[in-house]
Amino acid sequence: MTRLAVLPGDGVGPEVVEEALLLLDELRLDLEIDLLDHVSADRYRRTGIALSDDDLERIRRSDAVLLGAIGAPGVDGDYARGVLLRMRLDFDLYANLRPVRLLDDRLSPLRDPARRPVDLRIVRENTEGLYVGVGGRVRPGTDQEVGIDVEVTTHGGVQRVLRYAFGIARTGVCLVDKSNAVPSGGAVWQRAWAEEIPAWPGLTTSHLYADVAAMHLVADPGQFDVLVTNNSYGDLLSDLAAQVAGGLGGAASANLNPETGFGLYEPVHGSAPDIAGKQVANPIGAILSAGLLLEDAGHPVAADRVRKAVAAAVAAQRCTRDFGGTLDTRAAGAAIRAEL
Ligand code: IPM
Ligand code: MG
Repeated sequence: MTRLAVLPGDGVGPEVVEEALLLLDELRLDLEIDLLDHVSADRYRRTGIALSDDDLERIRRSDAVLLGAIGAPGVDGDYARGVLLRMRLDFDLYANLRPVRLLDDRLSPLRDPARRPVDLRIVRENTEGLYVGVGGRVRPGTDQEVGIDVEVTTHGGVQRVLRYAFGIARTGVCLVDKSNAVPSGGAVWQRAWAEEIPAWPGLTTSHLYADVAAMHLVADPGQFDVLVTNNSYGDLLSDLAAQVAGGLGGAASANLNPETGFGLYEPVHGSAPDIAGKQVANPIGAILSAGLLLEDAGHPVAADRVRKAVAAAVAAQRCTRDFGGTLDTRAAGAAIRAEL
């Protein structure tokens, strides 16, 4: 049995997670759901608690986490850090897998048939870089205020995420960094990269600077299989790549620790407060994230059914407006379940 902690979160999170849960239910797998719907910006506003010790304990007792979205207008960054970044760091979820697959040609701004198909995976280092929270402010509140965020890059951290990236590659891996401009951390990536390549003789390798990678992702995304990069570039490039495949609404992600097997699965989109509660959010990002979860939880056949059902619903334009359909969130979720 797989025990699943579910954190719907804020904004559109509860709406899209509801569709993912209905879909999981439809698959009739051996899942036990532990719903932590009290983890929210609302509670944080009232109590200052992002994740309580009890929440963390319940999450620790689970095999995986399914998360909607975290964040609300007027709530400070400590809240997102206290929930999402906390879980990524506490559970050492060092590989953030962000697959980008073009579900239907009409969704891409790049409709040139020669450039298809888009089916790539971004592997984002998820525990280091600028996200470690090391730094501080000098003379806060004055004209001379200085803010410093330290970018941390360790050889072990780079090595393990490179190994994960090579391990999931079908044809090749492209390293994305800024070793031309950020030399110290860049050198650590470059050294680990050079050391790792000989271990994977069957795969092609390439290297792009992050700015050039952004250009290539728009000009010719079909060339990529796996892109591996640091925390910040992975954050930026995964939004960019998602848009190339139709938009953030369909983008899924898995935050993984391949050694412990623990994972946190979430759509790449945020809480989208401007459309929250209106039943217009696209449930596909959350549903495909649940699909990634099933794959890792030992249900590859169910995961494949989910991917195919989503693709079929999109092809039939049985989806939300952002993907060219006319359905609301609930109906779009139901259309995917009908395709199962
Ligand atoms: C993401 C998000 C987060 C990040 C935010 C909410 C802190 O943009 O998961 O991509 O920057 O990692
Ligand atoms: Mg992001």
